[in-house]
Amino acid sequence: SEQVIRRYPLVLLDGLPLSELLEANWEEVKRFKAFPDDLLIASYPKAGTTWLQEIVDMILNDGDVEKCRRAPIYDRIPFLETVEPKPIPSGLDQLAQMARPCVIKTHLPFHLTPKSFWEQDTKAIYIARNGKDNMVSYFYFDQMTTSQPDPGTWEEYFQKFLSGNLTWGSWYDHVKGWWDAKDKHRILYLFYEDVKQDPKREIQKVVRFLEKDLGEETLERIVHHTSFDVMKKNPMANYSIIPKSFFNTDVSQFMRKAGVIGDWKNHFTVAQNEIFDEDYRQKMAATSLKFRFE
Ligand code: A3P
Repeated sequence: SEQVIRRYPLVLLDGLPLSELLEANWEEVKRFKAFPDDLLIASYPKAGTTWLQEIVDMILNDGDVEKCRRAPIYDRIPFLETVEPKPIPSGLDQLAQMARPCVIKTHLPFHLTPKSFWEQDTKAIYIARNGKDNMVSYFYFDQMTTSQPDPGTWEEYFQKFLSGNLTWGSWYDHVKGWWDAKDKHRILYLFYEDVKQDPKREIQKVVRFLEKDLGEETLERIVHHTSFDVMKKNPMANYSIIPKSFFNTDVSQFMRKAGVIGDWKNHFTVAQNEIFDEDYRQKMAATSLKFRFE
């Protein structure tokens, strides 16, 4: 019988709002030992993480589609801070069994990422998405994901996003923290909007960062295999095999929109947009980090 999964409240772990589910494993996550040749994929939730994961797996497998269909994306690239409940297995348990080095996913802000990654000089790729679309995507995700806190109404969610009272904390701190870190460590910083606009150019950046040499035909195959339409139909990339008790697909889909930029315009009121812009101006005043919202 299917396990019933309830909505777990947030607790503060080292000042970061995280699911109560993570509390028992938190110290172990922080002590995680990286290998120098591991690769970390990092993001704020809903920034295009899965997309980047599929791109990286295709690159590392020289564009071999069959190899990239060997298992669901969360088994090919374990999620460091995932814990029970099933069906997605605990990231730490998976990593303990994984052949290393390997690719690892995290949503941790830079300053709480296990120190070992930076001591080992491990490479990381970060993907960021403009805050307005990121908020909308996260709102739908929190509705469908039964272990996440109840997002409440759109108006309530809008306030939570601005105050950072969400799982993995403030979007602003997250994108800025990794941006500041990128010049001190081997971090490639990508933008969802750029990958959408010119996937081939951005995939080539990843290829170079991973020191791979792939031919034109292989690149084209990667662009095709990781396009929204192909990924949406690929059960190894679209989370569709996760039971409804965990991802309630009656509410929303994991591959929700056609990967569009600017869906926020269908959700933000004029007043909310003004509030967002003013708050954004203040929070982003001291950074060189710039986003495109359309
Ligand atoms: P939307 O909810 O706006 O549709 P993450 O993997 O970090 O959870 O991000 C999920 C978001 O990335 C979803 O955004 C999803 O549709 C989008 N996405 C996933 N694969 C994509 C692809 N191949 N092209 C464009 N967007 C993609």
